[in-house]
Amino acid sequence: MQTRKAQSRDARAIQQLIDSFTHDGTLLPRSYSEICQNIDTFTVVESEGGQFIGCAALHVYGPHLAEVRSIVVRPDIAGHGAGSLLVQSLLRQAEQRGIQCVCLFTRIPTFFEHFRFQITQHQLFRDKALKDCQHCARRNACDETVMALGKLPPLLPDSTHHPQHGGFVQLQL
Ligand SMILES: CC(C)(COP(=O)(O)OP(=O)(O)OC[C@H]1O[C@@H](n2cnc3c(N)ncnc32)[C@H](O)[C@@H]1OP(=O)(O)O)[C@@H](O)C(=O)NCCC(=O)NCCS
Repeated sequence: MQTRKAQSRDARAIQQLIDSFTHDGTLLPRSYSEICQNIDTFTVVESEGGQFIGCAALHVYGPHLAEVRSIVVRPDIAGHGAGSLLVQSLLRQAEQRGIQCVCLFTRIPTFFEHFRFQITQHQLFRDKALKDCQHCARRNACDETVMALGKLPPLLPDSTHHPQHGGFVQLQL
């Protein structure tokens, strides 16, 4: 198995695999056109023979923060290291780009603990919730864990806009 940056010709397979995990909220839906527009963010893992096995995306907000999104491996090939190859590839890309912190939202924190991600406070990422959670099948019953690796971006100071909650991570600086 090997990873490589996705190309436009991968968009259909990426969309179909992600879609097969959206109905119960395991993954957030990504439309075909959105995947095509953001194909540069995707990495795929494939067999020696070039067969598509899985994908993951690194969504870069800025030098302070990137997010692992849409990580998924074909169920018939799960458990053979493809998911690990994807995470390692995204972390290498983040490091090469000098990104300080990589975050993710997940229901399987034990998988990401293999890569030294640590659980952090959900509330710190309220910007992300405002941006993406409306599209989730479990938006009214969120059971995701927020994890981060690296130096958490500086929090916004207790702002007049959110005096009751204190600081949170700003996705866009
Ligand atoms: C999560 C997923 C990407 C893992 O891919 P994979 O190829 O099966 O993972 P690997 O074979 O590289 O597993 C690496 C390690 O993580 C563990 N692991 C795999 N899936 C796991 C899971 N769902 N929960 C906890 N640990 C898991 C493996 O047991 C292995 O541990 P070991 O090295 O101690 O044996 C894959 O199972 C998947 O596509 N799941 C459905 C989509 C999903 O839930 N994505 C995550 C959204 S945040």
